[in-house]
Amino acid sequence: GKKGDKSRGALVVLEGLDRSGKSSQSRRLVSYLEGLGISAELWRFPDRNTSVGQTISSYLSNKSQLDDHTIHLLFSANRWEKRSSMEDKLKAGTTLIVDRYSYSGVAFSSAKGLNIEWCKAPEIGLLAPDLVFYLDLPPEKAAERGGYGGERYEHLDFQRKVAEKYHLLRDDSWKIIDACLPIEDVQKQLRDLALDCITTCQSGKPISQLWL
Ligand code: TMP
Ligand code: MG
Repeated sequence: GKKGDKSRGALVVLEGLDRSGKSSQSRRLVSYLEGLGISAELWRFPDRNTSVGQTISSYLSNKSQLDDHTIHLLFSANRWEKRSSMEDKLKAGTTLIVDRYSYSGVAFSSAKGLNIEWCKAPEIGLLAPDLVFYLDLPPEKAAERGGYGGERYEHLDFQRKVAEKYHLLRDDSWKIIDACLPIEDVQKQLRDLALDCITTCQSGKPISQLWL
């Protein structure tokens, strides 16, 4: 483009059950991209650093109780408070690798029995990911990995329900990755698909919005 134009970064999201490997895979993906000289940052939701995030964190560690609708809206608010900085980063050419996003919001809350359309509504207008990796691992396998940290939701029976809800949310931006494969094999797939996506975004794919 013109002098001063900057091609945008890609919004890449990792989703999956607790213990599916999202955090370590996303960390590695960011290091890999940086190593190639691509501007990339690791983000995560919930972002526990904001005041909303601290309320969420206290709820997750069972230090406080909140109505299911209330906590759902707080998770969503935690994404809304980051929306403009995400957009700024993307427009400045930085690729964002995001550990959990709106799909977690809808899958976890609807697994509690909340109406799925009601759960999606507050996510409308957030930035749509260019690519979603779903790290697919049977709930039983995830539980076997151990290290459930004892936070709310980290129970096999609930994770089974979350997996069913995730299934309903799949769309064209999703790549289902077999998370039973060795770490290196999973990482290789993420790298190749992420690089393709970054190229597509650089060549002018517009940023779109969720669920419109
Ligand atoms: P974390 O373990 O990735 O920090 O996420 C904390 C928990 O919060 C995890 O069990 C998934 C859940 N969660 C929601 O219920 N709604 C959301 O919007 C997000 C981002 C996470
Ligand atoms: Mg966790």
